[in-house]
Amino acid sequence: MVVVTMAFSMRYLDLKRKIRDVRMLAIQGIAKAGSGHPGASFSAAEIMGALYFRKMKHDPLNPNWEDRDYFVNSKAHSAPGFYATLAVAGYFPEDEIKDLRKLGSRLQGHPVRHSEQQKHHSVPGVEYSGGSEGIGLSVSIGIALGNKLDNKENHIYTLIGDGESNEGQIWEAAMAAPKFRLDNLVAILDRNRIQQDGFTEDIMPLDPMRDKWSAFNWNVIEINGHKVEQIIDALNRANLVQDKPTIIIANTIKGNGIKHMANVPQWHGKAPPNKHTPLLLEELESECLIAPSIIAGTRENYEEKVRAAERGDADIIHLDVMDGKFVPNITFFAETIKKLRHITSLPFDAHLMIENPLEHIEEYIDARCDIITVHAEACDEFEFAQINQKLLSNGISPGIAINPSTELPKWVYSHLNDIDVVIIMSVDPGFAGQKFVPQILPKMVLTTRKLRESGFNGYIEADGGIDATTLQQVYDIGARILVAGNAVYGSTDIHAAIIQLKHKANVALEKRLLEHATTLGIRSDWMKTRKHILIPLANELDIEEEFHAIK
Ligand code: DX5
Ligand code: ZN
Repeated sequence: MVVVTMAFSMRYLDLKRKIRDVRMLAIQGIAKAGSGHPGASFSAAEIMGALYFRKMKHDPLNPNWEDRDYFVNSKAHSAPGFYATLAVAGYFPEDEIKDLRKLGSRLQGHPVRHSEQQKHHSVPGVEYSGGSEGIGLSVSIGIALGNKLDNKENHIYTLIGDGESNEGQIWEAAMAAPKFRLDNLVAILDRNRIQQDGFTEDIMPLDPMRDKWSAFNWNVIEINGHKVEQIIDALNRANLVQDKPTIIIANTIKGNGIKHMANVPQWHGKAPPNKHTPLLLEELESECLIAPSIIAGTRENYEEKVRAAERGDADIIHLDVMDGKFVPNITFFAETIKKLRHITSLPFDAHLMIENPLEHIEEYIDARCDIITVHAEACDEFEFAQINQKLLSNGISPGIAINPSTELPKWVYSHLNDIDVVIIMSVDPGFAGQKFVPQILPKMVLTTRKLRESGFNGYIEADGGIDATTLQQVYDIGARILVAGNAVYGSTDIHAAIIQLKHKANVALEKRLLEHATTLGIRSDWMKTRKHILIPLANELDIEEEFHAIK
């Protein structure tokens, strides 16, 4: 199996799911070992995931493939996240993570370069023995130079840390790489602004980081290191640069994914108690994506709405395509989406409320949508299967939607591996600004349960009348993509509206985790650990008194 990707086609939801699985695997290993580095494993999760699951040429069944791209993990303490990424990519069985840091295990605290001699304490796919930091970039220069001398086309991707950038050797290497015009070398800086025991800018100020690297004649790209679409876009752009190495400054959050660990230095090298693992796994499975629906609101100005959603920190753009036949309304078609595509790298979630979707699917593929959902009422199994193959072969996440009065057709259950999202409509499709139909909730519960029992690990998307009052109901059932039209564009402050929806999802999550902690008999222990997250929500969670009682 060889992994080669086209420009934009990242099958977005599948990539998100894989990276979620990486975090879940890593935290299980760290908690079981009672030691390890959750902070860096999580800040670099999207970076390593985008490389191994989408960008790099590599073959888990042939780890020494001549033409492979190389990944050098110079911030080696991110080992649990790195191992989990290799396991999810197929280099070794996922359940081996339980042996993390055990004597005689292949998964030691810092990775060991894989070789025949070292096979008992290293795993396939590890190109570099890390641990003492500051060295990986120099090693990468050696590999890049050697490959250039051999006229090889492959790339070397090197993950470095900002704490690690205190090391002088990093800057020696930074000088050398442009000298040798190493355009086959891409360094990615995990800029999480925390090192061993504090914030980088307190310990050894590094800013302006960008100016430093461009002054060393590197091509510099700066991104949000948790947005996979930005990571892949930056990697693609780096590969186009001639005669110069590139550094991608990925702004990240240490411990991202677990709220009480996020941006907290003590979680650099500390393991959570194993009894917390079920709660941490539930939290990691609960990441919510807010998707503003741009047909809502008064003004037609779709471009401005897309920009406002991006400024408002939306996760996805929801595009309701209506043909006036499948639904009694006409909105826009592929041409409009094509024009909007250049405005943002945010993923496009096209909800096709059209008849004969098979006839039109190529147009939406060409428009570079990242997720395309068709209605079960508008196609039969045969047509759906053809649509899906076209979407998957173009790296697009396929979805299926059902109207409030429709049950999910039986035939859908034989296609679950090829479906990344199921939209369960909570209004009759056709217009934004309609009232949420609570009668769909029992069906949503049953359909979601049946899908999970049938092995579906994609996303449930709630669409129609979702706002601050209805969000928790669909969240509790398991919806993790939340479409919001009127709740966002009906408001005068779009950013505030998106923040409020994310806040409501957050309150719903904390409520569920508290209930779960209670069933596990660790409620007060959990509340102590989660204190700085729960205190601002104590009123909404009705736990103020309880907090006072907890010493
Ligand atoms: C309705 C569309 C929805 C709608 C959402 O047919 O599929 O996406 O625009 O808008 P609100 O959130 O206002 O119901
Ligand atoms: Zn929709």
